[in-house]
Amino acid sequence: MEKQLITNRLSIIGMDALVANTTHLQQIIDLYRSFYSQTFRVSPDIFHSTILTTPKTQWMLAIVDTFNGMVVGIVNANIEYSFLYNCQSICNVTDFIVHEEYRRQKVGTWILEHLEHYARRHSCRILRFISARPSELFTPFFTHHEYTIVQPSIAERYLGNSGSFSV
Ligand SMILES: CC(C)(COP(=O)(O)OP(=O)(O)OC[C@H]1O[C@@H](n2cnc3c(N)ncnc32)[C@H](O)[C@@H]1OP(=O)(O)O)[C@@H](O)C(=O)NCCC(=O)NCCS
Repeated sequence: MEKQLITNRLSIIGMDALVANTTHLQQIIDLYRSFYSQTFRVSPDIFHSTILTTPKTQWMLAIVDTFNGMVVGIVNANIEYSFLYNCQSICNVTDFIVHEEYRRQKVGTWILEHLEHYARRHSCRILRFISARPSELFTPFFTHHEYTIVQPSIAERYLGNSGSFSV
């Protein structure tokens, strides 16, 4: 059966709502495990307390299919100030996973667009994705979106702004 695009059903759940929903917390952990396998050992309790203490520069969220309430994607983004980039901010995304059953339906693209908007809103000069696990899916996805593949597990896009840049 041909897959249908489901992006009109997607909704972003932020940190506050995440900690209040144990089902979502467990689904997020399952999603991490599906990609990182059993090496991902974080329990719901640790996840819960970590989210509660994350700084405001971190944007951790889940993407939920409102049709069935299922977590279909996760993102963990951090904004940091970089001396290398003239003391301007860059946005590093360390976790970006779409549920296997939801891939190739533009969910990743939908999330990427939101991340770019978020990074621009926070005046970030660069949006950078760093994968802790080599994945054959990394390059095709980011190449499709015209990102620069800096290394096999690092892709970035220059978002631009008015400041000067020298390294
Ligand atoms: C990378 C990932 C987030 C992409 O999510 P997705 O929802 O499947 O991506 P999209 O459906 O938006 O794909 C957009 C385009 O990227 C390219 N692409 C995505 N997956 C691809 C694949 N498996 N093979 C070839 N091209 C692919 C295609 O050009 C696709 O457009 P098309 O389907 O019209 O051909 C997902 O594969 C994933 O979770 N991978 C495991 C985790 C990971 O590697 N994360 C990377 C950053 S840390």
